[in-house]
Amino acid sequence: MESILVTGGAGFIGSHTCLSLIKKGYCLYVLDSFVNSSKLSISNVIKILEIDGLDATEFIDIVKGDIRNKSTIRDLFLKSIADKKPIKSVIHFAGLKSVAESVRNPSIYWDTNLISSLNLIEVMLEFDCLTIVFSSSATVYGLDNKSPIKENGKLNPNNPYGNTKLAIEKLFNDFFQSNKKKLKIANLRYFNPVGAHPSGFIGEDPKGIPNNIFPVIAKVAIGIQKKLNVFGNDWPTVDGTGIRDYIHVMDLAEGHIRMLEFLENNESQIVTLNLGTGIGTSVLQLINTYEKVNNIKIPFQFVHRRSGDVSELVADSSFAKKLINWAPNKDLKDMCKDSFNWQLKNPYGFNGPQNN
Ligand code: NAD
Ligand code: WQD
Repeated sequence: MESILVTGGAGFIGSHTCLSLIKKGYCLYVLDSFVNSSKLSISNVIKILEIDGLDATEFIDIVKGDIRNKSTIRDLFLKSIADKKPIKSVIHFAGLKSVAESVRNPSIYWDTNLISSLNLIEVMLEFDCLTIVFSSSATVYGLDNKSPIKENGKLNPNNPYGNTKLAIEKLFNDFFQSNKKKLKIANLRYFNPVGAHPSGFIGEDPKGIPNNIFPVIAKVAIGIQKKLNVFGNDWPTVDGTGIRDYIHVMDLAEGHIRMLEFLENNESQIVTLNLGTGIGTSVLQLINTYEKVNNIKIPFQFVHRRSGDVSELVADSSFAKKLINWAPNKDLKDMCKDSFNWQLKNPYGFNGPQNN
């Protein structure tokens, strides 16, 4: 049997993707340092599959390790061979993702995001593992594009986190150019991944104070946080609040599988895809939907614009539809319902109040 290495597989998007991959019959190695996640996310993936009648323990092996250490990655490839489950492809989620933290501490972002990606691709080549799907971000587009944004939009990230994502895309492109006949690489530019698995067993559990709107709304929804600060009501949008393209994490998980299977079945190439719904939602529209589907109130107040924000960021995802026949199935109501369900069942995330 062959296997897939999922770096950062215990994290938000990683855990949901692991679930979908195992359901499809894939065998996985998860490499994660748990710097921003809990082992319990993977235990809960196994629980969900158990409820569905599948004993997943044989299909997933979790290894704690820092992907910045080349020897850690190499050891895992060797282990997969010894286990007779050689790694044949990689989904690379591991990394740090807070824009604000990256401005305060660019060094750790370059080290964690870029160096680890260099280590990974080098070790992959050592073991003749030639397929990688990489978590890039819409943040690479920066401030200058008009939505909906196509993959050929202007690339101009405006923070260190975004710079690392663009640099990794370039790094992979350079490796592809020098190994043209071999590598299969996909850069997936996610827009705003949100929601949770409908079971409420896994979801988004950022360590520390959340910055993104969904974890904040969810905390306000259950009363852990008093109100939501809405960053600006003077943007040039329908109601003055910022517009984003929110995409359900389970749809995103499916996008990874389609991408991986496309690469497996096609010749060597490097491809870059937007993954979003193509639908823009303002902050006020989001609050309204969250309140309605969950029958609750979200107290909020308008505050100043957040530095570095854009007015509108919406994907043109037509290329994903065309290339890998991927389109989202879930809408904003599902995202709001599943987010609230996750937060209600796990008010303090996986590890309880001490984690917050
Ligand atoms: P996450 O923080 O929940 O998951 C990242 C995982 O990587 C965590 O489990 C973390 O512990 C692990 N990790 C971090 N540094 C590591 C290291 N040095 N060695 C091993 N493991 C390490 O984040 P997520 O939301 O699941 O995002 C996954 C990927 O998608 C990230 O690369 C992120 O930049 C990218 N992305 C996320 C979003 C988003 O809004 N969530 C949007 C676009 C792109
Ligand atoms: C969404 C909207 C805010 C919080 C970030 C990263 C991006 C990507 C996704 C990783 C905006 C408004 C937010 C709050 C608010 N991550 N907002 N009050 O900024 O689109 O993207 O996450 O790659 O790189 O930059 O997402 O959820 O922070 O904000 O009013 O407390 O909600 O102004 O309009 P963003 P977000």
